Amino acid sequence: MNTALITGANKSIGLETARQLLQQGYRVYLGSRSLENGQQAVECLKAEGLNQVEAIQIDVSNSDSVNAARAALGEKIESLDALINNAGISGGRPQSALEASIEQYRMVFETNLFGVVRVTQAFIDLLRKAPEPRIVNVSSSQGSLTLAADPHNQYYHHKGAVYQPSKSALNMYTIALAYELRDTPIKVNAVDPGFVATDFNNHRGTGTVQEAGARIARYALIGADGPTGQFFSEEYNPETGAVPW
Ligand SMILES: NC(=O)c1ccc[n+]([C@@H]2O[C@H](COP(=O)([O-])OP(=O)(O)OC[C@H]3O[C@@H](n4cnc5c(N)ncnc54)[C@H](OP(=O)(O)O)[C@@H]3O)[C@@H](O)[C@H]2O)c1
Repeated sequence: MNTALITGANKSIGLETARQLLQQGYRVYLGSRSLENGQQAVECLKAEGLNQVEAIQIDVSNSDSVNAARAALGEKIESLDALINNAGISGGRPQSALEASIEQYRMVFETNLFGVVRVTQAFIDLLRKAPEPRIVNVSSSQGSLTLAADPHNQYYHHKGAVYQPSKSALNMYTIALAYELRDTPIKVNAVDPGFVATDFNNHRGTGTVQEAGARIARYALIGADGPTGQFFSEEYNPETGAVPW
């Protein structure tokens, strides 16, 4: 049975991605920084008849927590088929390029970039043991430098001077990671789930978690002929998902 680890999966987009991978027959390790919240999410999924799911405590901003999660998962499985780096924070508002504190930048980068680096490096050995491993970095079209600089972009005036650089950096990390893994079967892509109604944006998003989960799961499920080192946003481009970096 294929296995997946999803960070920040106790609610919202991460939980829905877990649901959709379970529906595809995966065994899902549902990452949650609060084990209690993770276990509650597991109970919800089990109540829907999705039983191949287990909560795992993982705070991506904490190396000890990530290493403990790696040790715990290593006791249960010998290989990991999919890693979904979903956990992320917005950093709150306002986010002024002139006034945001370095502390605010550190906090957001700690989760949105360093968290992904930490988790990827900790679990890469388990991924390497799977036949067709996939890494999905949950990014945002808000991290697109091209779109952010385009006055015609519908979100041009929605500037988040802390969050947006964290996702741009995540995109570049995705490129670097895919390049280093180019001679392996591992495929790694950055995926924008779209502007989705969740706690993240006080439910101001216009899309649903179901759409977002499907967009992410698609790149966890791509075949050997699928892309790697690419950035996709179906919200931006419903036909191909292609979105400028
Ligand atoms: N919603 C959107 O419109 C949108 C658009 C583009 C991209 N995204 C991206 O999609 C991802 C999920 O967003 P969402 O809308 O589902 O957000 P959400 O409702 O705020 O959920 C975020 C999840 O990440 C977890 N998390 C936060 N910091 C963590 C940490 N240090 N360690 C482990 N887990 C942590 C949260 O756990 P707790 O429950 O413990 O807080 C929660 O499970 C994020 O990467 C976000 O940047 C969202």
